[in-house]
Amino acid sequence: MLPCIVFLCSFFAAACFQDIQPSKAFLSESCDSLCTCEEKDGILYLNCEERNISKISQIKVPSALPFHLNLYKNDLVELCAEDLEGLKNAVSLHLGANSIQELEPGVFSALGSLKKLHINSNFLVMLKEDTFHGLVNLEFLQADTNFIRVVEPGAFNKLIRLKVLILNDNTIKFLPSNIFRFVPLTHLDLRGNQLQTLPYVGFLEHIGRIMELLLEDNDWMCDCEILHLKIWMENMRAQSAIGEVVCSSPHHLRGTILAKIKRDVLCAPLTPIST
Ligand SMILES: *[C@@H]1O[C@H](CO)[C@@H](O)[C@H](O)[C@H]1NC(C)=O
Repeated sequence: MLPCIVFLCSFFAAACFQDIQPSKAFLSESCDSLCTCEEKDGILYLNCEERNISKISQIKVPSALPFHLNLYKNDLVELCAEDLEGLKNAVSLHLGANSIQELEPGVFSALGSLKKLHINSNFLVMLKEDTFHGLVNLEFLQADTNFIRVVEPGAFNKLIRLKVLILNDNTIKFLPSNIFRFVPLTHLDLRGNQLQTLPYVGFLEHIGRIMELLLEDNDWMCDCEILHLKIWMENMRAQSAIGEVVCSSPHHLRGTILAKIKRDVLCAPLTPIST
């Protein structure tokens, strides 16, 4: 008897709340089995973590409701633009910890509403010119813990609202000139790469609005060329959190913190300071 009463109570409670919650018709079929779903303030949260999903087409998303889609820890290997066309109302997309090796140019073209994209912990080796084409509203991009070695010059050109870029734990040796010219970054994580220097012209000059810049664990080469970075960091530290640059070379400066090296040590004795 008791279970029956409990059942009836919850039934009526659900009926009462139906006026407040938009009808189930908005929810997607995927919520029945593959994913768990929750609706809050007219936005659907689809959680499909660790479901052995290998194709985006397995997911049915609502056509009339903005949504967050979490596909963390699945078996996605390939993504194609057609598969993602149906995700045009996505506000965030978590593709972390899958097995994605390549993002074909324009793959995200349909995702004009997307604000947050996670593609961390995959097997990416390259961010191409048109990889992020169409993501005009993207504010947050997490691409750490891949094998990214090459970032093409225009890779972030169209990301005119991007504020947070997380690229730590890749194998980036250098970033092309003007890479952030059109990007209003406030947070940039470059830890754990193979950077040797960051020039002022074409790089530091474009990230003047940065609030947090993380630079630890790279291959910083502390010669006269890095003087610009040292001076820039001294100027920025009043307003921003800038990570520590620890020299990797030359040999006699290995392990030394750049901020603690005197300017004439960096540039002496063979290369005179050119001002
Ligand atoms: C995913 O696959 C693994 C290995 O085959 C299995 O043990 C697990 O139960 C599967 N998970 C789901 C949600 O189907």
